[in-house]
Amino acid sequence: MASFGDKTFQPMRKLFIKTYGCQMNVYDSARMADLLAPLGYAPADAAADADMVILNTCHIREKAAEKVFSELGKLKELKDEKADEGRQMVIAVAGCVAQAEGAEIVRRQKAVDIVVGPQSYHRLPELIARIAREKGHVLETDFPAQDKFDSLPEQTSVAGPSALLTVQEGCDKFCTFCVVPYTRGAEYSRPVTQILNEARGFVVRGVREITLLGQNVNAYSGEGLDGERWSLARLIRELAKIDGLARIRYMTSHPRDMGDDLIAAHGEIEQLMPYLHLPVQSGSDGILRAMNRQHTRDDYLRLADRIRAIRPGLALSSDFIVGFPGESDRDFEDTLALVRAVGFASAFSFKYSARPGTPAAAAAKQVPEDMKSARLEALQNLLLEQQRTFNRGCVGMVLPVLFEKPGRKQGQAIGRSPYLQAVHAENADHLIGDIRDVKVEEVFPNSLKGALLENTRRIREAAC
Ligand code: SAH
Ligand code: SF4
Ligand code: F3S
Repeated sequence: MASFGDKTFQPMRKLFIKTYGCQMNVYDSARMADLLAPLGYAPADAAADADMVILNTCHIREKAAEKVFSELGKLKELKDEKADEGRQMVIAVAGCVAQAEGAEIVRRQKAVDIVVGPQSYHRLPELIARIAREKGHVLETDFPAQDKFDSLPEQTSVAGPSALLTVQEGCDKFCTFCVVPYTRGAEYSRPVTQILNEARGFVVRGVREITLLGQNVNAYSGEGLDGERWSLARLIRELAKIDGLARIRYMTSHPRDMGDDLIAAHGEIEQLMPYLHLPVQSGSDGILRAMNRQHTRDDYLRLADRIRAIRPGLALSSDFIVGFPGESDRDFEDTLALVRAVGFASAFSFKYSARPGTPAAAAAKQVPEDMKSARLEALQNLLLEQQRTFNRGCVGMVLPVLFEKPGRKQGQAIGRSPYLQAVHAENADHLIGDIRDVKVEEVFPNSLKGALLENTRRIREAAC
């Protein structure tokens, strides 16, 4: 290795990370980039330009996991082409497929050099060194989340005014359909000091909004500043004291862990956005029981009422699974009825996908594929209608928008409303990183259009 003065010279190498799955993977990908930057890896725009490619994978549904293997097939061709030119390409599989499938990945695709689980990626530099030294593959799928957070470098790859911050990992709930407890391990909460430092670092770099992440973020129970266990609400109260941090969000929450203090925080902390992603999965008590969700339909309805009573105008979003084993027409009708009763501003809905090793995959009464498709369509139509109604209700309202990036047209900028709606406005490209009042004028399928208001009194979000 060459040296310039006292600075070690690292040859320029290119890194391409492709991210699948949830926001926690997005966060992890950014951390992997931070980790490899000191080794001389700069971001590449495409796999073809890269010396190292990481697929940060998701195992949640069969389709997500299978995508990885077709992508690996393409990468193998690239790797072979490069080898013909005398160049090297390292292929790593990270994330939840890596954790779930381990050595099976290398068996199915020999071009893979590194398999690294979500709690072990801090060891990437060491694994890269090992494959350079030894021939063959390396596999690292250890579990302790704490080791990872203790060994990661400071976040430097801040991409804009809105940042993700993982505060909790893993899941102890074991819903019968879900792989997450197996791929991410037991619940672990990062200490408050570590989170505050990361958040302050973000704000110094221009971040105005932080989304706190966790597979079960509201189960957060980390070591507080006084040595006691702090809840998510207490953590949020502390974060809200950071000067310049204008918006706080958190996801994903479990209905069972919506504690009284967290609900109260929605009424008291101005920075906490009036938008909550609270997955319910099904509206049928029988199915919720079979899913081991540990809450009833009524619990969810009461929760929605309580949160909205504390923070009027709070918008809810949710996740749904249709075609869970044993789901009857009646059960599905119960889900539609719950959706009508709650009214969601947005939602994600999925066909049940049997995941190997989870209890529901072995259930006798699997729902036929065509029935799942028909139910998904009916549910999505209803949810889309609710989303449109919600968005149309915003027309004429004034919403504070955090501008994040330039739009396609000259002078245009795109930002987010408190309800995570994408909002674009003209003559706003100089306002990236600022929060400004925007009067909503028009609704498009995936965004809102608005006009910037100067010196206009803000009508509170409760409006739409
Ligand atoms: N921790 C979150 C969700 C994590 S997974 C929670 O408790 O709600 C994200 C979403 O994927 C889930 O909410 C669920 O709707 C969906 N999902 C998980 N496993 C699935 C499966 N086997 N088939 C279809 N959808 C699934
Ligand atoms: Fe999966 Fe259930 Fe845990 Fe969410 S709470 S991550 S759905 S097991
Ligand atoms: Fe997928 Fe793992 Fe997230 S399975 S949804 S990437 S926790």
